[in-house]
Amino acid sequence: MSEPAPVALLRDRLLGWYDAHRRDLPWRRDPRPWPVWLSEVMCQQTRVDSAIPYWRRFMAAFPTPADLAAAPLDRILGLWAGLGYYARARNLHAAAQQVVARHGGAVPDDPQAFGALKGVGRYTRGAVMSIAFGHRLPAVDGNAVRVICRLDRLTDDPRPPRNKEVIWRRAAALVDGPRPGDLNQAIMELGATVCSPKSPACLLCPVADRCLARAAGVQQALPVKPKRKKRRTAHRVAALVRDGEGRIWLGRRPTDGLLGGLWGLPAVDAPGPDGPALRTLGLEPDLDAEPVTVEHGFTHLVWRVHTWPARGAPTGGEVEVWRAFAEGELPGLGLSGPSLKALRACGVNLPHRRGAGRR
Ligand code: ADE
Repeated sequence: MSEPAPVALLRDRLLGWYDAHRRDLPWRRDPRPWPVWLSEVMCQQTRVDSAIPYWRRFMAAFPTPADLAAAPLDRILGLWAGLGYYARARNLHAAAQQVVARHGGAVPDDPQAFGALKGVGRYTRGAVMSIAFGHRLPAVDGNAVRVICRLDRLTDDPRPPRNKEVIWRRAAALVDGPRPGDLNQAIMELGATVCSPKSPACLLCPVADRCLARAAGVQQALPVKPKRKKRRTAHRVAALVRDGEGRIWLGRRPTDGLLGGLWGLPAVDAPGPDGPALRTLGLEPDLDAEPVTVEHGFTHLVWRVHTWPARGAPTGGEVEVWRAFAEGELPGLGLSGPSLKALRACGVNLPHRRGAGRR
């Protein structure tokens, strides 16, 4: 066997498997556009199981795009806290406002209009338009990339645009038939539950006998994953400062840029764990103490955050507003990942949200 499998056969097998084995997810019971959209944005951050409680909270708080559009960003980021990649929450907020302004509050049944909304890229457009409205558009997430690379034994790095196109074209051909939304989900679902990265369960796979990678015995090696470049390390010096009532000073960063709109400890860039750097924020570090150091990785960068106990009230710096919070207020706040880690390392009790991802 060396020819890619014909689309009609793959469609039949994948849809049959999906009908029998798909997970019972809350947004699948009644796939209306807004719940589906929300689920697809959340599932880009985190595994489907982990997204469910967030999705439930959001649907309860914002049952329609108009409800989200009218909500203050702080409240949205607070409910998003733990999911990661807050830009997606900010974009969704802006997109909901566009839906209200341009489409009377209804998610448009039109791929072009939907794709023009803030933050809606090719994946979200294909997923929502196919699942909620039956448009024949592909939606290829990381799981689908793996399935397609294995099925067709694509041995090049799937990330460069040229190779990505090959994968998207194959997916487009597959969904250009009946039930495109279910077919997209079948491919992603197969990747999530059967065609796993390290130990694919080929015995359970409906298309194993048509899988070129399996025929060649290379399924576990695909898709190839070139080593990623070493990330740069940068130091941040942060302060744990309490006011007279024991409340902790935090600053909210501007909406744009790294950790936009999130609350964090007073902090500055520095060449190392230099406590005195905090004086630029009007704070006096306790230099007899040892700083508490945590690491937080971003895509291209690792922060080493050194937190010193300090006195004073912060001023200036790269924040929009400073405010002191009681410890009990912190869990509902959109706290940045690095500050969450630093606070925990300093002994502040912050509950772990089940299934929380990176931020
Ligand atoms: N991952 C993200 N969205 C998905 C969906 N709709 N079905 C299966 N897996 C997914």
